[in-house]
Amino acid sequence: MDKSAIKSKIEALRNELAEHNYKYYVLNQPSISDYDFDMKLKELEALENENPEFFDPNSPTQRVGSDINQEFEQVKHEYRMLSLSNSYSKEELVDFDSRIRKLITEPFEYVCELKFDGASISLIYENGELDRAVTRGDGEKGDDVTTNARTIKSIPLKLKGPGYPSKFEIRGEILLPFATFDELNKAREKAGEPLYANPRNTASGSLKMQNSAEVAKRRLDGYFYYLLGENLPEDGHFENIQHAKKWGFKTSEHTQKCKNIDEVLEYIDNWDEKRNDLPVATDGIVIKVNSIRLQNNLGFTAKSPRWAIAYKFSAERVSTILESVSYQVGRTGAVTPVANLTPVLLAGTTVKRASLHNADIIENLNLHINDEVYVEKGGEIIPKIVGVDESKRHPMAIKVDFIKNCPECETKLVRQEGEAAFYCPNESGCPPQIKGRIEHFISRKAMNIDGLGQETIELLHHEGLIKNSADLYELKAEQIIPLERLGEKSAQRILKSLEESKQIPFERVLYALGIRFVGETVAKILANKLINIDQIMNSTIEELADINEIGGKIAESAIAFFEQEANVQIIESLRSHGLQFELDEGSLEGRSEKLTGLSIIISGTFEKFSRDELKKLIEKNGGKNVGSISKKTSYMLAGSNVGPSKLEKVQKLGIPMISEDDFLKMIE
Ligand code: IVH
Repeated sequence: MDKSAIKSKIEALRNELAEHNYKYYVLNQPSISDYDFDMKLKELEALENENPEFFDPNSPTQRVGSDINQEFEQVKHEYRMLSLSNSYSKEELVDFDSRIRKLITEPFEYVCELKFDGASISLIYENGELDRAVTRGDGEKGDDVTTNARTIKSIPLKLKGPGYPSKFEIRGEILLPFATFDELNKAREKAGEPLYANPRNTASGSLKMQNSAEVAKRRLDGYFYYLLGENLPEDGHFENIQHAKKWGFKTSEHTQKCKNIDEVLEYIDNWDEKRNDLPVATDGIVIKVNSIRLQNNLGFTAKSPRWAIAYKFSAERVSTILESVSYQVGRTGAVTPVANLTPVLLAGTTVKRASLHNADIIENLNLHINDEVYVEKGGEIIPKIVGVDESKRHPMAIKVDFIKNCPECETKLVRQEGEAAFYCPNESGCPPQIKGRIEHFISRKAMNIDGLGQETIELLHHEGLIKNSADLYELKAEQIIPLERLGEKSAQRILKSLEESKQIPFERVLYALGIRFVGETVAKILANKLINIDQIMNSTIEELADINEIGGKIAESAIAFFEQEANVQIIESLRSHGLQFELDEGSLEGRSEKLTGLSIIISGTFEKFSRDELKKLIEKNGGKNVGSISKKTSYMLAGSNVGPSKLEKVQKLGIPMISEDDFLKMIE
């Protein structure tokens, strides 16, 4: 294929994939299988890798994010991001209607919408392409989270024409659907990590994660409800939102026009209950005057528009009895309290347990056993206890005191300054911690041991065959074969996979050790910087914290890990079994410190190296490859076709631009 044929093929695939993405995530009407979608995406990926000159940040392949840590630049909102005034009763809405009627003398309509409970975001489109995504921040300026936003499938990267203004802004809410929130929490529970409190906080936390590949994994969703710009197609807000849907935005199908306040009140009655069936969190209804001309006439107060108001639902609340409190210990030793309740029906489901999160919450509620407690399902999928009826408390009732000792191994619990959770410090002797750590060790992203899972680990531990991850490498076929549900075949599979794991690179072995706060990315940074386990183990807190992107918290946790004799013994034993505890030769070749302390952003397309190769070269030479431009960026490594907004930004900040050849000279 010649270059122009390749270019057309790439464009055709991009358009086709964007269309399937729209059908799946916006319309909810997929027309091809996931498998076929993945095949086409792979084909596009391969073509783009072979032909880097056609790179496009808004290609469907960019939705997987990148594991380059980014710093967020603060940007000023062109239109301030205000909030809405709230109301809690129908009377307040009738008052709102009278106020509006005094100010508008001509006939007008309202629009009623669901009030989504997530993290608000503002998207700026130029010439049909996503240019920037900014969080609300303080309303005046927010964080530029474009790289993260690109991973959210309900955000179109390129618009479907025709008819969109050449430049406009659209605002909406980023949400974590309940089902996804549940799945993430199940995985966290399994990994012994503290659970996320609710979908809203998780969504806004995810939006600000430094690693966009991690954001992609959170499977965020979004609804868009507010267009801003000079040349919107129509005067009606409702009508404009219908256009936005055609351009590719996910909009709510439950938005409705109402002729008068009675129709508004009817809409509210209808949704007060029905909202419990929605896949995402809502906390009210928003009522807006439809005509943008009239909206402009009504204007804003200092805090909110005069043309809109929010009606907040009261969270459904029931009372029941607190029967007991139990405590769960996770892989990291974090102890989570759970309230056991007399079963009660709440928002369509029977509630038996409620999360209590931590000791402070128990203390603040002043909980006693057999208390009558109020349980609410707000934004949270896991119900929570919001209050206690102290008047009904028995005089002899026993106060809930957070346990002092581990429920599994009786070791005295500890709480570090500034942390909400209590931990069991008996890392090497506490069964759920031991099992949790081995489960982490064998997991896919760590040592990826085939044939071993939670149940087998439980079994092997129960039989006294393993007490730590190193013991796995001592296992013999004859020990595994007689165990329940296992046999000759499983034994061979497990042993083969353990043997193969000896080739797994150092950075993954380091991650597999399960050091608190040392995730995949941190493990990679440490491995690349310090080359082998001995150098890491011999470092001081200060030395570790001095490494770019390694904070004090990570450094302290790593040092504390290596201070424990049991951990050092496990490492020695794993090493004697042949696991990789240093970088391999390929990674060591060509290393230098020539770029230490420099943050470099790569932009455009290059002749000699692919962007991925350049990224590796930066890291190998001690530099940091950043994903967005800020004052702290040292250089822009610029190829051809650098986007105009990026060019403007580096020029404004006075960041020097270097060519591929300049860069190669720097690391020569
Ligand atoms: S319109 C000038 N419509 O609620 C404000 N906001 O408390 C215009 N929200 O900042 C916002 N659903 O984050 C609007 N259908 C909806 C909404 C909505 C949720 C959020 C948004 C806003 C906050 C106001």
